[in-house]
Amino acid sequence: MPIIHNTINQQFMKIVLMGYMGSGKSTVAKQVAIGLDIPFIDLDDYIVEHENKSIAAIFKAEGEIYFRLQESKYLKQLLDQEQDLVLALGGGTPCYAKNIELIGKASESFYLRASINTLSDRLVKEKEQRPLIASFDGEQLKEFIAKHLFERRNFYEQAKHTIAIDDKAIEEIVEEIRSKLKD
Ligand code: S3P
Repeated sequence: MPIIHNTINQQFMKIVLMGYMGSGKSTVAKQVAIGLDIPFIDLDDYIVEHENKSIAAIFKAEGEIYFRLQESKYLKQLLDQEQDLVLALGGGTPCYAKNIELIGKASESFYLRASINTLSDRLVKEKEQRPLIASFDGEQLKEFIAKHLFERRNFYEQAKHTIAIDDKAIEEIVEEIRSKLKD
């Protein structure tokens, strides 16, 4: 295992997975963590646990700006933890505040890149808990994803590594991440 230099907390390894909603960040991050035998945290779950509300309830009660502020605060907290960690971000995390700069300094980051078709096929089945897309259906959803991804791509592409995930099994994606960590 190489030593990954982390300017926030030099002695601990942080591996960060980013990408659009539905790109498989949590599933992949969990497997990477199991393989490396280090802890895994999903940023959305961490927010839910600390705020005592679902993401949908936070958006509804406090609004998106409040959510983004909390998201940034918890991200900093996690990147500063004195332990090795695989962290799955929320889809929007790299795109707000100065989160992408912090991620760049504090972690070995991976962008799980999926096509619009893959994302819309997946998200049409699991949009209810995602406040930004819950109200769209079919073509509307696909159009929203296309525009949204266009706006966000610039942030995602600042990740240190990009992994194309269309048509790949979870194990294959995990293996690609592991091999990039060894380089
Ligand atoms: C969001 C993605 C969600 C969650 C919130 C906002 C986004 O996370 O953080 O609903 O802005 O893309 P997932 O990518 O885990 O669904």
